[in-house]
Amino acid sequence: MRVLVIGSGGREHALCWAAARSPQLGALFCAPGNGGTAALAENIPLDPMNFTACAAWAERQAIDLTLIGPDDPLGGGIADIFAARGLRVFGPSAAAARIESSKAWAKHLMRAAGIPTAHARSFDDRAAAEEYLRNYEARGGAYPVVIKADGLAAGKGVVLARDGAAARAALDHLLVAGGLGAAGRTVLIEAYLEGPELSLFALVDGARMVPLTPACDYKRAEDGDAGPNTGGMGAYSPPSFATPALLAEIEARILRPTVAALTAAGTPFRGLLYAGLMLTREGPKALEFNARFGDPETQVVLPRLESDVLALCAAAADGQLDRVPMPAWSAKATCGVVVASAGYPGPSASGLPITGLETLDSDILVFHAGTRRVADGQLVTSGGRVLTLVAYGETVAAARAHVYANIERVRFAGARWRRDIAAREQPVGQ
Ligand code: AMP
Ligand code: GLY
Repeated sequence: MRVLVIGSGGREHALCWAAARSPQLGALFCAPGNGGTAALAENIPLDPMNFTACAAWAERQAIDLTLIGPDDPLGGGIADIFAARGLRVFGPSAAAARIESSKAWAKHLMRAAGIPTAHARSFDDRAAAEEYLRNYEARGGAYPVVIKADGLAAGKGVVLARDGAAARAALDHLLVAGGLGAAGRTVLIEAYLEGPELSLFALVDGARMVPLTPACDYKRAEDGDAGPNTGGMGAYSPPSFATPALLAEIEARILRPTVAALTAAGTPFRGLLYAGLMLTREGPKALEFNARFGDPETQVVLPRLESDVLALCAAAADGQLDRVPMPAWSAKATCGVVVASAGYPGPSASGLPITGLETLDSDILVFHAGTRRVADGQLVTSGGRVLTLVAYGETVAAARAHVYANIERVRFAGARWRRDIAAREQPVGQ
């Protein structure tokens, strides 16, 4: 099988790594890829947002399966362009990807299907949002509330507003100042939920779904869940609180009805459906859905997959998940920690030499994100999230100890990472 992976992050490196273990793999390409994917795949300098160029290249190269990593191309319709040329693609249509690209649409779908989620109202008018907040306050409604931009915002679209002033500032930023552009032209005012968070991925073939193993992600930049939201600073799998009974409940009450609702809406989903869940006192609730693999969860989930990732993704793309064996998972746990540039999630420097990777224990997995190789072969930084280091262990605690015993050996100017990934075996206070 000739396989193309679209994207350039740690998630895509992990997809390439898993694809490289498949007995079916013939040739592997990654567009545009990074300094890590270059060792497993041929990096192709295509822009993931230039859908026609990507599809034309895939056609010329007789690609058998294309895996789309990031949200932006999916939301923009890359899978539609591939499908229109008869190319096999793992990733939903733009219409189905609205489950991620419009939080208001997703909320409407969930509400209509009776899927447990936080109560929310959507607004595109500042005055109407003000009236809602005034009524909410007059009824004794409590803070915090959550203000969310409707569209894709690279993790910057969610504000936990601790009081009315913060809520109003967030509304002003999005609806008046246009702080996130079109992504923030519609906002949700959402009830604040509390509890541990869980990421659960499912392969979906348009009708059937197969859940993958659960993971926990750490979204805040600093230890103790302080600081701004990021794309994710680390993850581990499996969380001990994700019991078979809990997973069965999430599958029955959230994942299956969502897949059915997408089909009923005329937008069947094919690809990877990612449920971001909060385990509240009233039971699991959907915080959000994404239409793609999560980053960095993929870096801890795929290393535990003992089955052929290409067989699974091809079956989902073909609408034939009933024809593949269920995925098998390693009994070992994984813990992954993101090594980020100084300043992340704000602007950060690029081009800083990275050293020490050759000194890591041989069983540590290194998934690159913001890296590239310069002329003399030197690896340098090229973004906010630079690497995810992943260790296996007999337990989550052992995996955690192993990854942190190695991470200090990675060096570049300003390198930083959270020290508490998997420390309490669940994210606190998010
Ligand atoms: P999202 O992009 O919707 O996953 O939101 C990013 C993060 O914001 C989530 O991982 C949560 O930690 C937090 N968050 C989102 N929605 C809520 C909510 N309704 N209540 C509490 N925290 C939330
Ligand atoms: N780790 C969060 C995300 O991929 O959206």
